[in-house]
Amino acid sequence: MQINTTSFVSAPLTIAVVGLGKIGLPLAVQYARHGQRVIGCDINQEVVDNLNAGRSHIQEESELATDVPRLIRAGFFSATTSTQAAVCEAQVVVVIVPVAIDAEHVVNTAHIDAASRAIGDALQPGTLVIYETTLPVGTTSRHLRQLLEQTSQLQAGKDFYLAYSPERVSSGSVFHDLRMYPKVVGGIDAASTERAITFYRSVLDAEIIAMASTDEAEFVKLIETTYRDVNIALANEYACYADMHQLNVHAAIAAANTQPYSHIHTPGVGVGGHCIPVYPYFLFSNPLDHAQPGLADTAHTMLTLPRQARQINDGMAEYTIQRLEEVVGPLYQQSVLLLGVAYRGDVRETAFTSARLLQAALRYRDAIVYADDVFFNEDELKELGYTALPAGYEDRITAVILQCDHRAYHHFNFSPFSRCQVVLDGRHALRRAEIEAAGMHYLSIGDGTTLAVKNDNAQRLAKKTVS
Ligand SMILES: NC(=O)c1ccc[n+]([C@@H]2O[C@H](COP(=O)([O-])OP(=O)(O)OC[C@H]3O[C@@H](n4cnc5c(N)ncnc54)[C@H](O)[C@@H]3O)[C@@H](O)[C@H]2O)c1
Repeated sequence: MQINTTSFVSAPLTIAVVGLGKIGLPLAVQYARHGQRVIGCDINQEVVDNLNAGRSHIQEESELATDVPRLIRAGFFSATTSTQAAVCEAQVVVVIVPVAIDAEHVVNTAHIDAASRAIGDALQPGTLVIYETTLPVGTTSRHLRQLLEQTSQLQAGKDFYLAYSPERVSSGSVFHDLRMYPKVVGGIDAASTERAITFYRSVLDAEIIAMASTDEAEFVKLIETTYRDVNIALANEYACYADMHQLNVHAAIAAANTQPYSHIHTPGVGVGGHCIPVYPYFLFSNPLDHAQPGLADTAHTMLTLPRQARQINDGMAEYTIQRLEEVVGPLYQQSVLLLGVAYRGDVRETAFTSARLLQAALRYRDAIVYADDVFFNEDELKELGYTALPAGYEDRITAVILQCDHRAYHHFNFSPFSRCQVVLDGRHALRRAEIEAAGMHYLSIGDGTTLAVKNDNAQRLAKKTVS
């Protein structure tokens, strides 16, 4: 390997960060804050122009508004659409462009492939390339390595270093998470691991955990995200059990979790977002496994729990609608309002939101579905495939489902919904007393009240019939 180790450790580095999105931009700023020279690369010209003018396009991390202009002015940070130009100058390349799944749950690596080809085009001997995007196991050591080697005509492990280190932060708390969560690092060989650790020591304050390989480091991220999906599925099954036995699952889970080994998450109407409902598919639909004769069949019989968890969590939309029907009867031509289409509270993002499954389950019954979200206007809702509730239509609504717990909904004014019979609190975030005071039934997933509500309705109906 042709590289001067001393200069790598002691001199300021030039780092190319490829992908300047919600995670890439904070990473670039984190490195620049540590005195390194960072060149950010993005295919979006507007993003690059804004950054070079000192404007951050990422609102989720408030510190960026002051740090971006300061670091640009001081010459520690600049942005470009030419990944090749940045990589030519860089000793370290960090890649953080998205890998997602399509509607059929097939892993789509188009963005990271394009980024890798651009990096390979300009890769210099001795450079350290680190992937941070969440990836199916084996992607760095096989697929991406091959792309880099083909385009650069260099050999990983001989001419350049190659490592993987999953980004474990959450959008909205990136700088905090970078300080708090240990950095997991694995290289394709010992020298790559060591070099990546040296790099991260120069730009992070967190503990660093060395893994045996890039594959093992990739596995870590899939384990931690899939754990949460499986955990929520268990919580959802407990919720269904609680409904069946007229128990309150929220009280029961809270009490169970006072035992330090119990960490049950919160049940609800479904799981959305870029990560939790997506990364389980990286485990059981890994394209690299499917390309290997024999392995695909074996892989198919494994990981049954994550597969079931996905089904349980996606099935909660149907369960939710069935609970509504227990109170209001058939939903044919009934108007239902979805409160919140974002995938979680207080974010303006809809990736894999449960709102889409709830809407599908309602439309399957020929219900009329309206949506509201404080983060999206009428046109944006339309663009996303929802119909905003027209002004004055409140009194047509039979049922309301709280899909996401934006803080703005915690004290939602239900009084104009004069014919609404039931509010289903899908995130256990509303105040039951306020809803009941407005004359509506309150339901939440796992509150065990369904049968009680049914009996209550039957009694009221019987009284009406007798009188
Ligand atoms: N968003 C999160 O909360 C989160 C949390 C942990 C880890 N991650 C990881 O970070 C990855 C990126 O997520 P994000 O939220 O930053 O995505 P994002 O959509 O906010 O940003 C991605 C950026 O990459 C750019 N890009 C796409 N293709 C490119 C290419 N070929 N070359 C250069 N730039 C390119 C896009 O223009 C965009 O600006 C995810 O796939 C995931 O693995 C995300």
